[in-house]
Amino acid sequence: MKTNAHTAALIESADALVANAPMEAARLYAAAMLDDPASITAHNALETLKAPQAYGRWMHVNCLIDPRDDIFKFFANHEIAKNPIREYLSDGWRTLSELMVILETLDKPLLKMHSVLEFAAGFGRFTRHLVRALPGRVTCADVLPGSIEFLQAQFGAKTILSTHKPGSMIFPEQYELVFVLSMFTHLPPSMWRPWLLALATAVKPGGLLVFSVCNETSAREMGLAFAADGTHFISSSESPSLDADVYGTTYTTRQFVEEQVEGAVGRRSSHYFPYAFWVGQDAVVVQF
Ligand SMILES: C[S@@+](CC[C@H](N)C(=O)[O-])C[C@H]1O[C@@H](n2cnc3c(N)ncnc32)[C@H](O)[C@@H]1O
Repeated sequence: MKTNAHTAALIESADALVANAPMEAARLYAAAMLDDPASITAHNALETLKAPQAYGRWMHVNCLIDPRDDIFKFFANHEIAKNPIREYLSDGWRTLSELMVILETLDKPLLKMHSVLEFAAGFGRFTRHLVRALPGRVTCADVLPGSIEFLQAQFGAKTILSTHKPGSMIFPEQYELVFVLSMFTHLPPSMWRPWLLALATAVKPGGLLVFSVCNETSAREMGLAFAADGTHFISSSESPSLDADVYGTTYTTRQFVEEQVEGAVGRRSSHYFPYAFWVGQDAVVVQF
């Protein structure tokens, strides 16, 4: 990898050529990517130019990445990162296949869903793939500044600005599927029940709430001990944008998960899929 200054010079030269010599500009942006494989500026320029190197040409989704996306930074800074752009984009694809497998197992195929709420969508790691599968049927919510504007402008999703106060969350409609990936894995345990209560109001009768939690065995293998209530909360996360007291890292026992679901909706989860998502996240399904 070359210096930041070298990469910046390539990008500057490319920017100067974009209007009159787009293919030459693309060549320089691609050279900048070889310098710095995590350069969102060079990547986004290649996507906008629809250059031969653009991921959108073969992934057939909008591959623009928002520079504020902390999940992208998580990929870029990961110890095994080699090509963070490709790893980030294809990880959203992985989520799509993982969710589809769960829904197929339940005989509720994703493609048959008329309305889906992707709650805690971030800057659209997964959304870009979901909207391709379900055009016009996806609504997204998040709290991160700029996230819902990006999701709407780039992916055409309907959006809802979320809040840290679940009691004040109002959903404009109900959805056949409410999908929440890796939010409960960050919420303080005291916020689980209020959020489950709020999210339950967003599910249509007969619909599904699918959310992910950290796998209990994985946590124990990492040497983590649980408090008497079955939780282990750490006040730190991948996100510098969110206060660590409202968004940390949350490990839980299966019993805690079931108690929270039961306390919020009056019964246990209808299905539970260990290791369904990410490195060690289980999928919890509540049928309404
Ligand atoms: C680990 S990220 C996962 C993002 C996305 N689901 C994905 O898989 O790429 C967790 C997300 O939860 C969001 N979040 C945290 N608290 C939230 C809240 N109260 N309402 C909506 N989203 C929230 C964060 O802003 C962040 O985007």
